[in-house]
Amino acid sequence: MSTAPDPLAGGLAAAAARVLGTADPWEKTATSRAAAAAWFAAREAGETPEIGRAAPPDFPARPERPALLDPRAVPRRRTGTRAGRAALLHAIAHIELNAVDLHWDIVARFSDTRLPTGFFDDWVRAADEESKHFGLLSDRLEAHETPYGALPAHAGMWRSAAATAADLMGRLAVVPMVLEARGLDVTPDMIAMFERAGDAESVAALKVIYAEEVGHVAYGSKWFHFLCGRHDLDPKETFHGLVRRYFDGALRPPFNDEKRAEAGLPLDFYWPLADAR
Ligand SMILES: [Fe+2]
Ligand SMILES: [Fe+2]
Repeated sequence: MSTAPDPLAGGLAAAAARVLGTADPWEKTATSRAAAAAWFAAREAGETPEIGRAAPPDFPARPERPALLDPRAVPRRRTGTRAGRAALLHAIAHIELNAVDLHWDIVARFSDTRLPTGFFDDWVRAADEESKHFGLLSDRLEAHETPYGALPAHAGMWRSAAATAADLMGRLAVVPMVLEARGLDVTPDMIAMFERAGDAESVAALKVIYAEEVGHVAYGSKWFHFLCGRHDLDPKETFHGLVRRYFDGALRPPFNDEKRAEAGLPLDFYWPLADAR
């Protein structure tokens, strides 16, 4: 009798590195969800699986398609057309796939930092949700006859991860607290746009994403504050310094102040970094 391989073989960090090393998006997200399911099954049984150590790749494995283009070279399409909406769904699917890797990268890359088990609970949950988000959008792309990979995508997504590869607090500041918070700002308009287009399935997918992304921003803020406490740092000043160091450019209003507050992001964290133009 053969048994299925243990998704957490070698520890959580090794499982994270396996997700990062998988190029096929559907295999990547399936590997991700299996590791998360094994982690939470153990946690519910009162166990804490080994974290272990792993060296994640500098860049996660990617499929041959989509072609990754310089952000300025990615064609802009009008969202008033069905093709334009498919292109938008494709762009969001690409963001979700990167988010799967970003969350597992936090687990693997900082596995030598002493952190409470709750830190891993949160990022495993976030990675699992991103995997689900990719699946939801992949299904919507199939319905639009534009499967993931059919259009070119943005090559710049890993820049913030690479810049903060040696700085966990910088990673938390820039990835969940800036980039994922930006998702909270822009998603309501996207939902409204798909509502106007009468695409109820895409609206439903985006509503799941919108609700769950609040949690990812909140995890970022929670663990950022935890580390500020550990190192006796002022959270607001530290956040400003890290975002200025690692994030290219100003933050762009309008901000979704209400959802940001729900996610533990105070106004005086992000408004001073806003583009004053
Ligand atoms: Fe997501
Ligand atoms: Fe997220």
